[in-house]
Amino acid sequence: MNYPAIRKALLRWFHEEQRDLPWRRTRDPYAIWISEIMLQQTRVAAVIPYYERFLRRFPTFPELAAAPEDDLLTHWAGLGYYSRARNLQKAARQMVGLGGFPREHAAILELSGVGDYTAGAVASIAFGLAHPAIDGNVRRVVMRMAGSADVSIEDEAEALLDRNEPGAWNQALMELGAMICVPRGPKCEECPVAKWCGAKAAGLQAELPPAKVKAKLIRKDRTLVVVRKNGNILLVPSPRVNGFWDLPEPFEGVRLGATLGTFRHAITTSQYVFEVREAVGGRIPEDARWWDEKELYQIPFGTASKKALACLQRV
Ligand code: ADE
Repeated sequence: MNYPAIRKALLRWFHEEQRDLPWRRTRDPYAIWISEIMLQQTRVAAVIPYYERFLRRFPTFPELAAAPEDDLLTHWAGLGYYSRARNLQKAARQMVGLGGFPREHAAILELSGVGDYTAGAVASIAFGLAHPAIDGNVRRVVMRMAGSADVSIEDEAEALLDRNEPGAWNQALMELGAMICVPRGPKCEECPVAKWCGAKAAGLQAELPPAKVKAKLIRKDRTLVVVRKNGNILLVPSPRVNGFWDLPEPFEGVRLGATLGTFRHAITTSQYVFEVREAVGGRIPEDARWWDEKELYQIPFGTASKKALACLQRV
């Protein structure tokens, strides 16, 4: 492979065509780290408003380290995978102990919630350190460039890496994967590195990377109950996400009334189908609390609970 030519062509394309994304306007390692954690498992368009709101509320690591849990979760609610938010705060507390954001790859890797991908991304983008950052997009691009599924992606990525501009290089690979070298129907005619692409030469774009056997979604039916008293509504601590509140499931003796709505919510391989019902009576669970309906917007809710509460507003 002609690495120097590939690097030059891809970097030139990136510098001309890259999207203007908020985390590309900063060199602040803290802000870059937040963006990289948010971008795991979440699309760019969905992340942007969260990123901006989060940084307004927690502009530096000491503020994040000191944040009350409900404040932290409220600013994360909607992004899902809440362990990411908890790890962010743990890592911010590690930084307080260290006296600053760590500036070496090995030390960045020690932060809570930071794996190989994030350490490589932050080290390269914020500090210009020569480390690859291999996420799903990059894996696909690198495998297609190599033209085979039987290669070490780590070795290929290391060999391709532009050591003068590792941050731009890593983001260029991500950008190519997001905009051109997309999973289905890659736009090879627009690709700046098509002439060096092994998959294109062999006509294997559709075969690489090989499809994973998809886990089947398992349907799970659940009922949530809306129990009201004097303008208050009954909530229970979320069994799934520590610190969140949910509508309760039917409890002992409760009598179900009208259906207020139904909604679906997928978590990993479970497809939950929720039915939201009015209810009265029964033995109130011990950990339940009454909340003023007018103040519900101040409480940390996950996406499923937000969908459930939207059923209340529709009637
Ligand atoms: N996905 C993960 N990191 C990214 C970045 N820095 N820019 C665009 N997409 C990304």
